[in-house]
Amino acid sequence: MKYQSPRGTQDILPKDSKIWQRIINTSKEILEFYSFQEIILPIFEHTELFQRSVGESSDIVNKEMYTFLDRSERSLTLRPEGTAGIVRAYIENGLHREPKPVKLWTYGPLFRYERAQVGRYRQFHQVDAEVLGSNSIACEVESVFALSKIFNTLEIDYHIEINSLGDEESRKSYKEYFQKYTKGFLNDLCEDCKRRYEQNPLRMLDCKVKADQEIFAGAKKPLEFLSGESSKTWEEIKSLLGIYKDKNNRPIQNIVTNPNLVRGLDYYNDFVFEVKSTSEVLKGQSAICGGGRYDNLVESLGGPKTPAFGWAMGIERLMLIVKEGIQKNISISFLSNQEEVFNYSNQLFEVGKENNLKLNIEVVYNPQNISKQIDTALKKNADFIVFYLDSEKVKNIFKIKNLKTREEIECTNQVSNIIDVLEREYNKIKN
Ligand code: HAM
Repeated sequence: MKYQSPRGTQDILPKDSKIWQRIINTSKEILEFYSFQEIILPIFEHTELFQRSVGESSDIVNKEMYTFLDRSERSLTLRPEGTAGIVRAYIENGLHREPKPVKLWTYGPLFRYERAQVGRYRQFHQVDAEVLGSNSIACEVESVFALSKIFNTLEIDYHIEINSLGDEESRKSYKEYFQKYTKGFLNDLCEDCKRRYEQNPLRMLDCKVKADQEIFAGAKKPLEFLSGESSKTWEEIKSLLGIYKDKNNRPIQNIVTNPNLVRGLDYYNDFVFEVKSTSEVLKGQSAICGGGRYDNLVESLGGPKTPAFGWAMGIERLMLIVKEGIQKNISISFLSNQEEVFNYSNQLFEVGKENNLKLNIEVVYNPQNISKQIDTALKKNADFIVFYLDSEKVKNIFKIKNLKTREEIECTNQVSNIIDVLEREYNKIKN
């Protein structure tokens, strides 16, 4: 039997893992700059957690969860998103007693039974960031800034769509209006929207069925129903976002209001946003990040009243548009028939680190056929070969071959000398 990976899953092969690391490392560096701390959570949770948080009216809970009974007949679900688990952990571990805001980030796999296609998978990964315990609009503003930094560093083209759903009062009046507006069309709407009409009419605006969209096109939008408080906050956020300048003092131009943006999960209030890639590659799956404010979730899951804000970005979608980048490891094949080579390679790790050089080393011990080893190093796209064979040992030297320029350099056999040569030669390759 020939095994294949299950539909909607994919292997990230070594040739692509540098891009993966670039995405994670860039996010981590920027999130840590903004004082987020990493949290690592289970991949499955009690099913009820997602039903109560993501919401009964969402597609995720209705159609997409991987739910199973374990051997003790407990209903468990592979997490379809990260926020619910973070909030559960926040309450369960008493993190709400720590100084606020508590800023947490995580990354890992999520599972949704979706129609698999380019950029949409059944197992996918997110970088997720949550700020718990703050109702300050600094959350909204800093998140947009942090994400701009991440996506600018990753050198991709994007724009940010923002909207406000309003507080409870605003959403209540919009719900009343929108139910009245759609009542006459109920028979023409898709089955999902018929359900949403009762459970959460706002979610109808997110419907992908064209005929339904045409019906909703003439309706007023949630922005027109904001309460006084929500409207003030919305205006303040927009004005602060307008002052963001990049390092050349240019304002970011790529923030737009999308009055139809409602997001696919039930827990949001007020500010919501999505980052969309402008790349053709992603076709219909252009959302690379989404999030918003969720001031009622912690309380509804049994914690104290806690305003909160967060977002998550999809790593697989970014993998399709991010390039490897210029930060490159120097890869070395170390050919030797001398025992000391193992000691030297250990020292190279230490000295490389002290000099801020990222090295990958492959020791080839007792090479039988030197020219074959050189060929292999070339095929593996190594940058250098360091020789320490009998002839080098006698002379107390290392011989270093730059595989890009084919030059050979000799230096006395101290590891710091290898590092000096590598640095000098690597700069030559780069320039
Ligand atoms: P979401 O919009 O469902 O939000 O997902 C966030 C991002 O995950 C999407 O923008 C997309 O890049 C990626 N994504 C979602 N589904 C898939 C899929 N099937 N295949 C590949 N990528 C996917 C949330 O999950 C919220 N928990 C975000 C949040 C955090 N809100 C507040 N805090």
